[in-house]
Amino acid sequence: MTEYVKVEQADGVLTLTLARPDKKNALTNEMYGRLADALSAAESDAGSRVVVIRAEGDTFCAGNDIGEFAMAAMGSAGSEERHVVRFLRALAESSRPLVAAGNGRAVGVGTTMLLHCDFVLLGEDALLSTPFVNLALVPEAASSLLLPMRIGHARAFEMFALGEPVSAEQALAWGLANRVVASADLHAEADRIARLLAAKPAGALSATKRLMRAVDAIGRQMEVESAEFSRRLRSPEAREAFAAFMERRAPDFTQFDR
Ligand code: COA
Repeated sequence: MTEYVKVEQADGVLTLTLARPDKKNALTNEMYGRLADALSAAESDAGSRVVVIRAEGDTFCAGNDIGEFAMAAMGSAGSEERHVVRFLRALAESSRPLVAAGNGRAVGVGTTMLLHCDFVLLGEDALLSTPFVNLALVPEAASSLLLPMRIGHARAFEMFALGEPVSAEQALAWGLANRVVASADLHAEADRIARLLAAKPAGALSATKRLMRAVDAIGRQMEVESAEFSRRLRSPEAREAFAAFMERRAPDFTQFDR
């Protein structure tokens, strides 16, 4: 079976690479599971002092696999565990410094996962978007808390409601990223930063991270979002949004009211 998430470790750095480039690294349940497992294992692995999240291909991550959203919307997702919940928890609760290297499009969870990363590098070609409302959904990964906190209500509302991409330069100016680098240098630069962090005293570093993040509040927000997200996923307007994506046509939401 093809491995859609590659896990490698060297010199204290655990590198997780999204490797489903033909589907723009859209995340499946199985990929969430592998990411969650790797992040959880890093907690007790002295060889994983820092975690890097990056991607193969021209797109960092096109968000959740919309085919799987559609199956959940039709109630035919099966009974397997929803690993996304485990992944988001592991991301939020990770005590390891998380370094992200985002190139090209980062859509939905592709962008909201960056809000949990401690050091975000973007390629010059990066475009971040959170088009949950366009899919008749609501923000997840505690982004309804973290995004307005980071960039202010006005910008966050616009990102959620209009769903238009924000450029790397804009993201840097708004405090969504630490650095914008030439796309060709992105992975090398992320690795360099990760190695710098891996050489720091790990106890002080993770304590600093813990002091900076209100993990309990983040966890509570994820629960509230998750309940609303599940309701929205099964709504007629969401079914229309997923069908439109699959049929490569514009959705028509005018037939629905709240
Ligand atoms: N879920 C499932 N498949 C996806 C996907 C997703 N989120 N995003 C892209 N793909 C698939 C496409 O269906 C296509 O598959 P195909 O080659 O079998 O037809 C392939 O990836 C390439 O995508 P395509 O749309 O042709 O590439 P693009 O370069 O023109 O556009 C994106 C890239 C990311 C802008 C576009 O694919 C997109 O908008 N994707 C959906 C993003 C989204 O709304 N995610 C959910 C957020 S909550």
